[in-house]
Formats: sequence, structure tokens, C-alpha cells
Amino acid sequence: MSDNSNPHSGTEDSTMPAQLVWQDGLPYSTKFQDVYFSSDNGLLETEYVFLQGNDLPTRWKQADLKHFTIIETGFGTGLNFLCAAKLWLATAPKHAVLHFISVEKYPLNLNDISAALILWPELSELSTPLIHQYDTLMNTTSISLYNYRIQLSVHIGDATEQLTRITNIADAWFLDGFSPAKNPEMWHSGLFLEMAKHARPSTTFATFTSAGDVRRGLINAGFKVNKRSGFGKKREMLCGEFIGTSNG
Ligand SMILES: C[S@@+](CC[C@H](N)C(=O)[O-])C[C@H]1O[C@@H](n2cnc3c(N)ncnc32)[C@H](O)[C@@H]1O
Repeated sequence: MSDNSNPHSGTEDSTMPAQLVWQDGLPYSTKFQDVYFSSDNGLLETEYVFLQGNDLPTRWKQADLKHFTIIETGFGTGLNFLCAAKLWLATAPKHAVLHFISVEKYPLNLNDISAALILWPELSELSTPLIHQYDTLMNTTSISLYNYRIQLSVHIGDATEQLTRITNIADAWFLDGFSPAKNPEMWHSGLFLEMAKHARPSTTFATFTSAGDVRRGLINAGFKVNKRSGFGKKREMLCGEFIGTSNG
């Protein structure tokens, strides 16, 4: 089924609504046969993998910080966004602006994202304004949140294709497709090369996976890749920084 009603669809069948069910109270993708976030504790996993993996708690305390850009692959339920937003509002200078840019080919509908975010009452102050503006976000790509301290953009369509259309340079990347074995189109060399075009020296990345193909692909694209202990049952994860030459 194609979703031609979305003005941001790249090609006729490029975007489809998320196909998910609820398993043990958590959203589960029937298309990819994978979870949206860890059953161990998705919120703690996000804090560990993406926030600490990119060293954000330290980087965001700099008094002269004016703006910061995160680019994420896979907006999903918005959990990563909300965890980043919570940390930003608590630690970054009041006049600094966070640009959080995500790409998503199979967006959740309003009912599903609302049901997913109810799982995190500790984020409700932040998730309520997001849910109120979610349909606007899906129709217009960008919204401002939290007294203009955060600009959220979600580009609807295939990740690699959407990245070719944006000009932003990331300070940090969140790589969060479904697992590489189940969702290979989120983890291929074309995507890693697009990351390099949207990076500069000191741009960092973090991801929950430690798959060899992902590690090699990132190295080939110009990233220095480190392994660190994974969250919960996962043995290892990857994080690192761009040391190559940007073509952007
Ligand atoms: C693990 S989930 C992301 C979870 C999300 N970051 C969160 O905080 O809830 C992976 C996401 O990647 C999206 N996705 C899968 N293939 C894609 C593609 N080719 N392009 C863009 N998004 C894709 C899925 O629809 C899903 O929302």
C-alpha cells in the first residue's frame, strides 16, 4: 500500500505507514520482525547508547554552545528524540538551539506513537507537546518545541534518499534502524557515505549494533570506530568520530 497523501514521499511507493503490533506491552514491527526499543529498558538504552555514546552530557555543558545538530536514522516512536530533548533542556545554555533531524520511511500514526510514549511517564511533559504537534510535523517536516529551544525535523522517506536532500552538518549521529540483519537498507555503504557528507572533524556517532559490516562500512566512509560494552543483553556497541574528508 502506498501513501501518496504524504507530500514528502519521494517516489510513489517509497513511504508506508508503520506495521506494528504490541508484544508484552511494547511496539513490535511486523514488517521487520524487530522491536522499536530494548525490552530491557528502552529509555535507559537510549541514554546509554546514544546520549553517552556521543558524549552529549559533557558536550552540552559548554557555556559558549550556541547550537547543536543531531541527525538520526529512524524516528520511530520518538523515544531517542525525547531523551535527547530532556538532556538538552536540563544541561544546554538557555539560548542555544538543538536541531534534531530524523529520517523515517514508515512513520507511526498518531494513535500508535501516543500509545508508545505513554510507556514513559517520566517524559510526559515533553511528549505531550510532541503528540499535540505530531500531525503537523508529519505534514510540514519541521516544528519548534519547548519555547523554541528545539527544532525537530522528520523527513519522510528512505533514509539514504532523504539524506541526499538535506544540507545540515551533524555534530552527532544516532544510527537506529532495526537490526542490520533485518533492515539492511538502513546500514549500507551508500548511507555511510551520506553520513560522511554530513560530517566534519569532531562529528561523532553512536549505534546499538556492533555488526562487522557496519563497523567496516563506517571505517570506509571515514569514521574512527570504537567498540564499547553494549546495553543490557548486547555484548558490544559502536561509537566514534569522523576523521575523514567531507565531500559535502
Ligand atoms: C529501531 S526503530 C527506531 C526507533 C526510534 N529511534 C525511537 O526512538 O523509537 C527503526 C526505525 O527505522 C525505520 N526505517 C526502517 N527502514 C527505513 C528506511 N529504509 N529509511 C528510513 N527509515 C527506516 C523504521 O520504520 C523504524 O521506525
